[in-house]
Amino acid sequence: MSSPPLGDSLNNTNKTFLFLTIKPNDLVSLFLKGGLTISTFFLVTLFFYPSLSNHYYNPTNSITTFHQNIFQRQTTTTTTTRTNIINYELEEPTNISHILFGIGGSTTTWDTRRYYTELWWQPDATRGFVWLEKEPDENQTWPGTSPPYMVSSDTSSFKYTCWYGSRSAIRIARIVKESFELGLSNVRWFVMGDDDTVFFPDNLVTVLSKYDHNQMYYVGGNSESVEQDLIHFYTMAYGGGGFAISYPLAKELVNILDGCIDRYSQFYGSDQKIQSCISEIGVQLTKELGFHQVDIRGNPYGLLASHPIAPLVSLHHLDYVDPIFPNITRVDSIEKLVTSYKSDPGRTLQHSFCYDLNRNWSISISWGYSLELYSYLLTAKDLETGFRTFKTWRSWQDEPFTFNTRPVSNDPCEMPLVYFMDRVENVGGSMTRSRYKRYVDYFGKECEKNKQALAVQYVDVSASHILPHFWKKVEFPKVEPQFKAPFLGFTKTAEVWNSRACMIGLIGTFIVELIINKGILQVIGVEIGKGLDLPL
Ligand SMILES: *[C@@H]1O[C@H](CO)[C@@H](O)[C@H](O)[C@H]1NC(C)=O
Ligand SMILES: *[C@@H]1O[C@H](CO)[C@@H](O)[C@H](O)[C@H]1NC(C)=O
Ligand SMILES: *[C@@H]1O[C@H](CO)[C@@H](O)[C@H](O)[C@H]1NC(C)=O
Ligand SMILES: *[C@@H]1O[C@H](CO)[C@@H](O)[C@H](O)[C@H]1NC(C)=O
Repeated sequence: MSSPPLGDSLNNTNKTFLFLTIKPNDLVSLFLKGGLTISTFFLVTLFFYPSLSNHYYNPTNSITTFHQNIFQRQTTTTTTTRTNIINYELEEPTNISHILFGIGGSTTTWDTRRYYTELWWQPDATRGFVWLEKEPDENQTWPGTSPPYMVSSDTSSFKYTCWYGSRSAIRIARIVKESFELGLSNVRWFVMGDDDTVFFPDNLVTVLSKYDHNQMYYVGGNSESVEQDLIHFYTMAYGGGGFAISYPLAKELVNILDGCIDRYSQFYGSDQKIQSCISEIGVQLTKELGFHQVDIRGNPYGLLASHPIAPLVSLHHLDYVDPIFPNITRVDSIEKLVTSYKSDPGRTLQHSFCYDLNRNWSISISWGYSLELYSYLLTAKDLETGFRTFKTWRSWQDEPFTFNTRPVSNDPCEMPLVYFMDRVENVGGSMTRSRYKRYVDYFGKECEKNKQALAVQYVDVSASHILPHFWKKVEFPKVEPQFKAPFLGFTKTAEVWNSRACMIGLIGTFIVELIINKGILQVIGVEIGKGLDLPL
């Protein structure tokens, strides 16, 4: 700002002092004008301070802004509020009691299917219900080892037009709504499953605790079957593998679900209807590799022996595939896998491999399940690809699947020796030792040339526990960043100095008025008593 020459300004503003160049009053007036200008400037900066400032200064919790930035980058589909962010940070991590399970059951099949649920259900820890189409028969006592049951409400008024499907899909789709409407406290996630879904609850908690339950999330997995994904959708979580809906999403979903079920009456399954409704809300599926619909036929060995590096969350359709361990019943074989899971939930089915370069052996391990010994060297790429020991779900063909497979060779010298988990023990220090026992002729007659390898009957594997934090690939900083208030700029310092200047200015005006008997506006030459003198 360029100010006019001193004489001019006096000329213009105060005619009575026209010929007097310097008087004490002039100095005072000049001083006051300067003071007023500076005060006005500070006032304006103070006024715009909150909108100009990037660093919102919060003396009680200086970390909030930092976290807010991280979270806003992670979540795009939702309305983030400050309170949510702070709460999520301060809240307890998600545990099993924050999950409400909804299992689609039926009175007629529960007695034969309940075994699957009872394998993982912990009456004193897991929360949820089996939803039945009607009250169980009076002579049918409800087992104490099963989850408590609820009877679904009537769905006869809904439309269902899929000619090859069953109306029960409507009832199953509405479980999430009926579960929500129970209004139970402290529920962060609604997890849906079938009566033949085997969940691995610790891993489910591990997976869900990666996500902010205050946001809208829909978490699950696809079918392994390309045919299924084409007929249904690639974009949906398959109900048998189970899926999770966060509380805020469930809250939106229950509002539209009933009308939505009619809009998608042509769809076969409850999971398809749920996904269609969620797509109306604008939320997409977050795929997690540990949910397994198991849409395959035959021997699931190849699938389980090459599990991706992801916590094992669920297995389904175990009635439709061979027992997962050979030569024992289905039930015993799942129980066997559960013993591994109980020793180290995070490591169950996790795949690793190693080489013995003295003997040129390759070894591939699916922890807690099986081990393969090759008497030659294989690349990592081969070892991570599972053997195609199974067929496609609908057409019983060799392919395709939604993942790569390699064929089982007729040449016994190309096939590995196979060992199955025999026992697992915790050996202290967060370590397990698991023993794998050779299963003779698993892939047919073994190669006679590999005498040295054939002599190996057992393999012991030592491994450290995979603890839940391992899976949190993006971790929040352990040390809270400290923001130092800069000395210059729109900061706390500025605010303090602004207020001080303001006080000094205010008191100064009073003093001046006392001494020279004039108001400040009078002194600088503004005629007072006429307001702003606007030509109205
Ligand atoms: C789960 O977290 C809640 C806090 O939301 C806590 O009260 C409860 O004790 C926790 N339960 C377990 C089993 O850790
Ligand atoms: C229960 O009673 C019904 C008839 O009321 C009968 O058909 C059914 O077999 C009985 N079930 C059991 C477990 O006794
Ligand atoms: C299968 O189990 C039976 C009895 O449990 C046993 O006698 C037989 O040797 C087993 N077969 C194999 C190939 O291990
Ligand atoms: C291992 O393989 C390398 C090259 O592939 C070969 O030179 C070496 O002799 C083999 N060692 C044994 C013990 O077979």
